[in-house]
Amino acid sequence: MGVLCFKKAIANYLLPYTSCKEPQLLSLLRVPKRQKEGQFVLSIPKLLSTHGPDPKIQQKPNVWCQEIAAKIQPTDNIERVSAVGPNLHFHLQQTPFTKSILQQVYEEQDRYGWAHIRERFGEKQPTVTIDYSSPNIAKPFHAGHLRSTIIGNFIKRIHQIMGYQVIGINYFGDWGKQYGLLAVGFEKYGDEQLLKVDPIHHLYQVYVKINQDAELDPSLHQKANNYFKSMEQGDKDALAQWQRFRDLSISSYETIYHRLNIAFEVYSGESQVSDYIPKVYNVLKSKKLLMEMEDGALAVDLTSFGMDPVLIQRADGTSLYMTRDLASVLMRKDKYAADKSIYVVGTEQQGYFAQLFACASLMTDQPIDQFMHANFGRINGMSTRQGTADNLTTMDDDHDDDKGMADGSKENSDMGFIADQLGISAIFIQDMKSKRTKNYSFAWDRMTDARGDTGVLLQYAHARACGIERKADVTMTKDCDYSLLKEQEAFELVQTISYWPEVVQNSFNTLEPCTIVNYLFKLSHATSLASHTLRVKDMDPALAEARMLMFWAARTTLRNGLTLLGIRPLDRM
Ligand code: ARG
Repeated sequence: MGVLCFKKAIANYLLPYTSCKEPQLLSLLRVPKRQKEGQFVLSIPKLLSTHGPDPKIQQKPNVWCQEIAAKIQPTDNIERVSAVGPNLHFHLQQTPFTKSILQQVYEEQDRYGWAHIRERFGEKQPTVTIDYSSPNIAKPFHAGHLRSTIIGNFIKRIHQIMGYQVIGINYFGDWGKQYGLLAVGFEKYGDEQLLKVDPIHHLYQVYVKINQDAELDPSLHQKANNYFKSMEQGDKDALAQWQRFRDLSISSYETIYHRLNIAFEVYSGESQVSDYIPKVYNVLKSKKLLMEMEDGALAVDLTSFGMDPVLIQRADGTSLYMTRDLASVLMRKDKYAADKSIYVVGTEQQGYFAQLFACASLMTDQPIDQFMHANFGRINGMSTRQGTADNLTTMDDDHDDDKGMADGSKENSDMGFIADQLGISAIFIQDMKSKRTKNYSFAWDRMTDARGDTGVLLQYAHARACGIERKADVTMTKDCDYSLLKEQEAFELVQTISYWPEVVQNSFNTLEPCTIVNYLFKLSHATSLASHTLRVKDMDPALAEARMLMFWAARTTLRNGLTLLGIRPLDRM
């Protein structure tokens, strides 16, 4: 069942004519550019360049392809083979192919795309930690945090379906000299009432004001340093105050995450790793990697990586961002013993992560490639003061409280939910439709255009397919007459559906969500094309049954894709 059977049939067919083995052939079969060119294509130059000279392919690839194409006879699965230049194109038998693919979707349903993965690792399920979102307390949740949240959530979900044990970590920026300054500012400008109502914004306002003051009055910096030092030395009052800021901020962030349907296994942060900071110094010292600077500060020697030394302790003995990340590496190693650690953070921290991974690898003896910086570009035109990242933190989250229901306006509340989900889909899809490292500009009208390649279009395609199912009122069966699905539109739709498992695999290999997004656009277009010509409602029952299964399979695939991207598919719009 499924596309693999057909790939195997093709490989078997070719075995007598090449020295390649089955697995090699399977990995070389590609999807042709145009669907009219068959379901699979094999490039002979690619075969020769990956596997070296093939004694059975002595002629020019073009000539060899001509000969093979002429030799191959139709089978139960393969209808014909054509030679196009140095490539062999395989055209499958429509009915067996359609039957096999649709039955597979029918069996696997919400696991279609990864059902075969489940047992991959047997007993030893690998663990991966994913550090994402990770905003800073008292500073705005900016576009970079939004991207980290969206992309990190996707990276988490795709690892889950690929059989990994996943620990999603929100590593708050909640420690450092700036929290000393914030505390000093709070004494002057703090308002308990405002803090309770909207901690994120109030702390930010305080922070902005005290920073302005400190520019005129440098003694405030000294005060802030002292305060932070007292925090690092465990001063009870200082810590209690900071704990309050942290707790209130986290619970207000949780509201946003909940709304975005995003959850973390662990809320951690720079403040949570202090037990491990002495260990960082000790391990590095015992490995003779610490260098003392003139002013007494400490740095790690990274000569073995051809990098400059990196500071991990200030002259006054306090820790830095780098120190705390190294401590968290040790802590995570103790707690989760992960096989892979992924950090979903903007490209502007690339240099920083290169240093971190070098230090971490020296410190833990883990190979450096167990650490990965899943980086991404900037969003232009989304200012932190008025932009959407900010709106997401302030807009009322009223769709899932039951006030609306109580006074009988369930419909309103549903409308609110739909509007909210559409907005979220628009933002998510805009964010994941290009390669991660690309910068893009934020533009509401472009990202909500229902005719463009947007999240709104994908939701619309999904809701529309649900509508076909509701209206037609046909029971789904996998024992329908597949030969009735004979039109080209049907073949192309089934073909598109069949590529899904490979799309998931490709996207996993690169951790690029755009592979999935672009596929979902293709799938939606193929579905809409087919649904214009192939009616279900009021058709002859056998035909309606077969078409229904096909549209259901398309919708199920779309649904699986949206869910994998972290989007809740809408049944109605
Ligand atoms: N809080 C940091 C920032 O806003 C991002 C933290 C990323 N994670 C990490 N382990 N360094 O820039």
